[in-house]
Amino acid sequence: MEISTNYSITKDELKNKVILVTGANRGFGRAMTLDLAKAGANIIMLGRDLDSLETTYDEVLDLGYQEPILYPLDLEGATPEHYEQLQKNILDNFGQLDGLIHNASIIGTMMPIEQYDIKLWYSTMQINVNAPFMLTQALIPVLNKSSDARVLFLSSSVGRVAKAYWGAYGVSKFAIEGISKTLSEELEKTNIKVNSIDPGRMRTEMRRTAYPAENADNNPLPDTKSPVIVYLMSKKAKKLNGEQLVLPNV
Ligand SMILES: NC(=O)c1ccc[n+]([C@@H]2O[C@H](COP(=O)([O-])OP(=O)(O)OC[C@H]3O[C@@H](n4cnc5c(N)ncnc54)[C@H](OP(=O)(O)O)[C@@H]3O)[C@@H](O)[C@H]2O)c1
Repeated sequence: MEISTNYSITKDELKNKVILVTGANRGFGRAMTLDLAKAGANIIMLGRDLDSLETTYDEVLDLGYQEPILYPLDLEGATPEHYEQLQKNILDNFGQLDGLIHNASIIGTMMPIEQYDIKLWYSTMQINVNAPFMLTQALIPVLNKSSDARVLFLSSSVGRVAKAYWGAYGVSKFAIEGISKTLSEELEKTNIKVNSIDPGRMRTEMRRTAYPAENADNNPLPDTKSPVIVYLMSKKAKKLNGEQLVLPNV
């Protein structure tokens, strides 16, 4: 289902909402953090690099938006105990969670499966699939405390239609689509709505790594696409569940 990126954020439309964004330090995660904070949400910025998390945090404050919370965590090494601790911290500090955005991912490498490096395959699956699974599992109880909660999985076109040489990344996004759809059905009768989204191409480090020869200036900046994430977290999108969303490349 294609949704327009043409969305104007209204001040305070997400006031009092608590939303966790993974990979919030840069790329699309940074753009979403800025727009969600602009809309008044309390953002829990999860990422592994404290310096760049702090840079984005400072940007949010400089713009006068809602102050976020920094949560340094490396999703590759994180264990169920780390996610239980995160659940406890959210419960103690906010009492509930209203949004969970699984954005952090690595691209792995472009390689035929026949030759794919096994260690890199494991790392890609750990960060792109196992971490979102464990994080979601640990946070369902706090999402359940919200009267209107959202889980959003960042996907990709190569997680919907297979493309040669995309290796572990493509396979990981197929798995994300599977988790998203399965969870949306399991939680159908609850207040938690679950969707996946293919954001389309964006001018980020990941895109530069995947397409080193293209002119990056032709790719839209992530902040042209992030306002619609505010819409997806707002009550206006309450009916969406189990959808494979896609953003147009404008
Ligand atoms: N850009 C595109 O054209 C495009 C197209 C389709 C789908 N997507 C999807 O959109 C999402 C965002 O992509 P992007 O382009 O913004 O990517 P990006 O610029 O490469 O950013 C990836 C983010 O994931 C974080 N991350 C990676 N490994 C991590 C780990 N072990 N622990 C914690 N955080 C980790 C990175 O943190 P560090 O700074 O620490 O590395 C960074 O914040 C991804 O899910 C991607 O698959 C992107």
